[in-house]
This record gives sequence, structure tokens and C-alpha cells, in this order.
Amino acid sequence: MVKKRILAGNWKMNLGPKDAGLLAGQLAKASTRLKKTEIWIAPSALSAQSAAEAAAGSGVKVGAQNVHWQECGAFTGENSAAAARELGLSFAIIGHSERRHIFHEDAEESAKRAAFAAEAGLAVIFCVGETLEERDSGRTNSVLKAQMSPLFKLLGKPYRDNLLVAYEPVWAIGAGRTASVAEIAGAHREIIRLILESSGLGSVPILYGGSVAPDNVESILKIDLVGGCLIGGASLEIKKWEAMLTASESL
Ligand code: PGA
Repeated sequence: MVKKRILAGNWKMNLGPKDAGLLAGQLAKASTRLKKTEIWIAPSALSAQSAAEAAAGSGVKVGAQNVHWQECGAFTGENSAAAARELGLSFAIIGHSERRHIFHEDAEESAKRAAFAAEAGLAVIFCVGETLEERDSGRTNSVLKAQMSPLFKLLGKPYRDNLLVAYEPVWAIGAGRTASVAEIAGAHREIIRLILESSGLGSVPILYGGSVAPDNVESILKIDLVGGCLIGGASLEIKKWEAMLTASESL
């Protein structure tokens, strides 16, 4: 079977239940023509049910933007992986830079969230990426290692086939500025090296995220070590999806 590249939409705190259901339905329709591309979408928690209903029976995977490390309990405002599963969600984004930087979820906490999500049967998109200051001071690789080390603990587990990494340089997210081909290839190579070194595993898909849009998606997907993209702003409109899907299918 051909391994499909993944275009994953991170809808962040956008699209209420009505709009999320509408877009998920449009994507479900668009997915019928896809041969090389999988569509994954992560609506906000309050819009997940309508998106999951609209995508039901199609190839579109619906996921959570984060999940907690416990099944239930006194954690106001959090969402559990068990509830996500009950809703029919199949993956979770963990360790997104907005969670790390705005909500102060550190590497240890991201690891706990990733472990619980994976144990609950969700695929995990584990996000890593350096700030501009870290890149400029030559610390990209050490930051990637520090952020990834929690993931290494999961790579020996039976659910390791359900792990993906998203390389998202913080300075490229929502910035209209994408990392260069060389920067993406370099970081992906390092991530793959770290995974190999820690676990011998060579098959974890690595997505790139950070201002992916119709006009650059093709050149990014062409990079050898890129298994797909995690897309924020450009994943909120069907027209942009159509253009990105066409580009992906053409490769
Ligand atoms: P962006 O967001 O595509 O709007 O830069 C990507 C992300 O945060 O996952």
C-alpha cells in the first residue's frame, strides 16, 4: 500500500460548530477523489462533534487539539482522551507551540499528555520547534532534542506506530514566513536522527508546520523527509484546501 502524505488542519480557536460541520462536510466530499493524500482536521473541542458527524464515513480523520493525562477528574477546562474516543476522534495534537508558550505546558507535561492519548488509542501529532532566538543562537538541535526526549519514552511502546512528529518553527507559525527548504530538511533530518538514535525506529512520519499555504505547499511536500503538513490559517477555507489537495495529488 502506498503511504499517503497527510495534510492536517489545526483549526485552533476558530470555526464554531456550524462552520466546522460545514467545512468538515466539504472536506469529506473532497476526500473521495484523493489517492495520495489524507485529510486530518482538529477542530476546537466545542466544534469536534459537529465536524466528526459531518466527516463520518469519509476518509477524513477528526482529532483533538490537546488532551489531558488523566481519564477524568477535577481539571476544569480540560478534555480527556477517553471522551475524544467516545466522540469518534482518532488523533490528538500534543505539545503545540501555543500550548508550550502561552499555556506553559513543558516537555514533561507534553509527554504525559502524549502518553495518555496514545494509550487511549489516539494517534499523536507531537509538535516541536525552536523560537527565532533559539535558532539565531545555534540552539535548534538541542531544543529539538529537549522537546523530543519525552517522546523517546513512548517509542518503545506497542502504540509507537501511532506517533507522528510535527516540526513547527515558532517563528514561522502564523507569520506568513515559511522556513526555507534547507531549514526544513535540516530539522527533519535531525528529528529522524534523534528518533533512530533513541529507538532504532525509522518510520515515524514528520510533518512540517508554519505558514503552509497554497502557494508553498508543493515545494514543501517535495522535500524528501516531509511526510505532510500541519496547517493553521490556510486550513480554515475550502478554497485553500482544494488548492493544497490538488498540489499534493499532483506530486
Ligand atoms: P499556521 O499554523 O499554518 O497558521 O502558521 C500552523 C500551526 O500552528 O499548526
